Amino acid sequence: MKILFVCLGNICRSPTAEGIFQSLVNKAGLKDKVVVDSAGTSGCHVGERADSRMRDHAMARGYALTSISRKFDEHRDFELFDKIVVMDAVNYRDVLELGPKYKDKIFMMTDFCQSHSEEKVPDPYYGGAAGFEKVIDIVLDASEGLLEVIQKEL
Ligand code: 4NP
Repeated sequence: MKILFVCLGNICRSPTAEGIFQSLVNKAGLKDKVVVDSAGTSGCHVGERADSRMRDHAMARGYALTSISRKFDEHRDFELFDKIVVMDAVNYRDVLELGPKYKDKIFMMTDFCQSHSEEKVPDPYYGGAAGFEKVIDIVLDASEGLLEVIQKEL
């Protein structure tokens, strides 16, 4: 099972989703069965580590974010991944536009939440500390839900 998390820059939200979900996968003993990656629709930050504010907030909660930003590749990622999980409605539109025939593989991260009612993982880039904490809260909730879904499909 291969999961790709997608946001705009691949330096805040999707690296957090990748790091947290990978950690849950490892804890569940599924490291050999689940591949986790992340990408951005914009390509503006390609080659960069995750935003240092995002890394600091994640590390304070016990999650090391190690990904390097890359651009979503419609020629490869739609075929390679089983689920493409996006952070907001703009990501959803952008990814769907690149591959309308892959609609069944594209999911909103918040659809997997069990306790949060938000309809997106809000972009924290231009905000303060609370925004980065919120990303982690929502991503943790959604990651737990996604893991349950995947465990049934393995
Ligand atoms: P991300 O956040 O999509 O969660 O990685 C952003 C990163 C960079 C920018 C916007 C959002 N930016 O405008 O450069």
